[in-house]
Amino acid sequence: MTAAIETKELTKWYGHHARGIIDVDLVVEAGQIFGFLGPNGAGKSTTIRLLLDLIRPTSGSARVLGLDVRRDRLEIDRRTSYVPGELSLYSDLTGRQLLTYLGNLQGKVDADYREKLIERLELDPAKKIKSMSRGNKQKVGLVAAFMIRPDLLILDEPTAGLDPFVQLEFEHLCEEVRTDGRTVFISSHQLPEVEHLCDRVGIIREGRLLAVEAISTLKERALRKLEIDFGGPVKAEAFANLPGVRDLSINGQVLSCTVMGSVDALVKAASRFEVVNLRSMETSLEEIFLAYYGTGDDAAKEAGHAAA
Ligand SMILES: Nc1ncnc2c1ncn2[C@@H]1O[C@H](COP(=O)(O)OP(=O)(O)OP(=O)(O)O)[C@@H](O)[C@H]1O
Ligand SMILES: [Mg+2]
Repeated sequence: MTAAIETKELTKWYGHHARGIIDVDLVVEAGQIFGFLGPNGAGKSTTIRLLLDLIRPTSGSARVLGLDVRRDRLEIDRRTSYVPGELSLYSDLTGRQLLTYLGNLQGKVDADYREKLIERLELDPAKKIKSMSRGNKQKVGLVAAFMIRPDLLILDEPTAGLDPFVQLEFEHLCEEVRTDGRTVFISSHQLPEVEHLCDRVGIIREGRLLAVEAISTLKERALRKLEIDFGGPVKAEAFANLPGVRDLSINGQVLSCTVMGSVDALVKAASRFEVVNLRSMETSLEEIFLAYYGTGDDAAKEAGHAAA
């Protein structure tokens, strides 16, 4: 099967010292929701702009939907939707007018589906674009992206600015795209924001792709800080040598520790006592980076080789 996205040693320098991305080898299989994760300045938007031929690579190559991003740009454009991170729509048109206009350009929009999307994302389509809030403009972008039922959606931090209800609806839309066998490529800073949505994630840092992992693998590695308040004193021995549990300490009736992977063993040990409260703090993506891929360039390169 043709990959939805495939890059080979894709590299972009904006200038001699302005690193965009370096040697990115990325494969995104069709029919997946793929998360592209990395901190500010990592190279997510650069990669996306290269895929869309909005900027040209310094070296390396990219294929989208099996097609050459430069030679076959028109066909890729027809079959791909892109929502940029900072959607700068300034228009006297209303949301519906703009969507109708874009739909006519595209030429194959199912108006019923468009109206359903407007409803599901709770967009007020009668409002002029220029008077819309950031989140509402983002919704216009998303309706425009989904309404053409593209083979590939490339969404650069699409959920920033959406309220939780709309975010959930957005996730359902992505899942429907996957059910159809189509592909969603979505960038984000935050693993928790996308982990329940994505099948796989690629992690980019300082311009280099460090790893591509199934979410299930990443979750096994995720560290969680746990605190348990007990109703009475507990014995430290009851919590000795539990698999995946580290840095365990008991302070009065409060236990704190770090858990890697499943919390099952810890929860079962705790259940022998009266549990009053349990607090779980997931580690951030940045912490997982630090734990697994180090901080410096060298560590990043090593991790890159290990992952390759
Ligand atoms: N037009 C440009 N000219 C010079 N350098 C640029 C340009 N665009 C991006 N860069 C640099 O390329 C690197 C990657 O930037 P990019 O925008 O791809 O990161 P990002 O992962 O999308 O970050 P963010 O999460 O902040 O959106 C950064 O160091 C950035 O400063
Ligand atoms: Mg960006």
